[in-house]
Amino acid sequence: MGIRVIGTGHYVPDRILTNADLEKMVDTSDEWITTRTGIRERHIAPKETPTSELAYQAARRALEMAHVDPKELDFISVATVTPDKFFPNTAALVQRKLGAGTCACYDLEAACSGLLYSIEVANGLLHTYPKYKKALVIGSEKLSSITDWSDRSTCVLFGDGAAALVLESSPDITDNFYVEGKICADGNYADILNLPAGGSAMPSSHETVDGKLHFIKMGGQETFKLAVTGMTSASKEVLAASGTAPDAVAWVIPHQANHRIISAVASRLSIPGDRVYSNIDRYGNTSSASIGICLDELNRDGKLKRGDLILLTAFGGGLTWGAQLLRW
Ligand code: ACO
Repeated sequence: MGIRVIGTGHYVPDRILTNADLEKMVDTSDEWITTRTGIRERHIAPKETPTSELAYQAARRALEMAHVDPKELDFISVATVTPDKFFPNTAALVQRKLGAGTCACYDLEAACSGLLYSIEVANGLLHTYPKYKKALVIGSEKLSSITDWSDRSTCVLFGDGAAALVLESSPDITDNFYVEGKICADGNYADILNLPAGGSAMPSSHETVDGKLHFIKMGGQETFKLAVTGMTSASKEVLAASGTAPDAVAWVIPHQANHRIISAVASRLSIPGDRVYSNIDRYGNTSSASIGICLDELNRDGKLKRGDLILLTAFGGGLTWGAQLLRW
């Protein structure tokens, strides 16, 4: 019995918001945003388009590549911090759009580490229970819906998008895509990156809306430092546990939050920049979608060869972080 990724897909909305556009909205500059973050533009979904629609579009593409009918799926997971609603879960809404029968559906919330966590869980389910054979694993975000467009310290960072993977377990598959992984969290840092209101701790009220408490609040510098240390240590642990030298890694795909974070992690891992994939200039930070969008771009561009080792690493609110080594 082996497990492989048999399809990938991603989707971003058409509308592009450039740094020049942001210069007209807040006191910022293209120069500040590009040098501090590496971001040049991001895609923004229409107000009426929910996260489930972005997820559905990415899923369609992944299923098409995999030649899998939605009705064959055993479960769908959606990683997101921007669900359509508190309930039902976004995965169930994607299932309805796909016409995927009555397969199991769940959402997973680990902020920007969401896709890593989802791969860990889906791989575990496929390994443990032979009854699960085909899984759709999605990271999808409409961060524009929780962004304070008057706060220059956060609004320049985020974008909307979705990515999907189709996983299959089968006796005909002789190898496993999953080599090693490590997912971590430290709730002591819960307050440095969060969305304060709307949940049971601070239900929505006129005061919470007036106080702009339904938007992302972030301690940027502290997050930056913890991101670098978390992604580096998890990556080193995963490489050591699998006996893999950094030279053997074909691609590192880090969460796309800031090009300076990406460079710092790559240099601490001694992996040269030409093996570190980044598209942050075009999409900004799309949270749980970012790693999957990179993976699909590499896959569709024919840059992944069978057997290549790919190191994924991410961090996000929680704080959560982790790394995974995959064999393509
Ligand atoms: N344009 C111009 N100036 C700005 C902007 C802006 N958009 N934003 C902040 N500044 C100013 C600040 O006010 C500050 O001015 P001051 O020195 O006069 O006080 C100055 O620039 C420096 O601000 P810093 O916060 O120190 O800038 P830094 O170099 O740390 O970069 C950034 C900020 C880009 C946010 C960086 O800290 C970062 O990337 N942190 C990690 C963010 C991250 O990855 N978050 C994950 C979020 S995932 C999620 O929540 C879904």
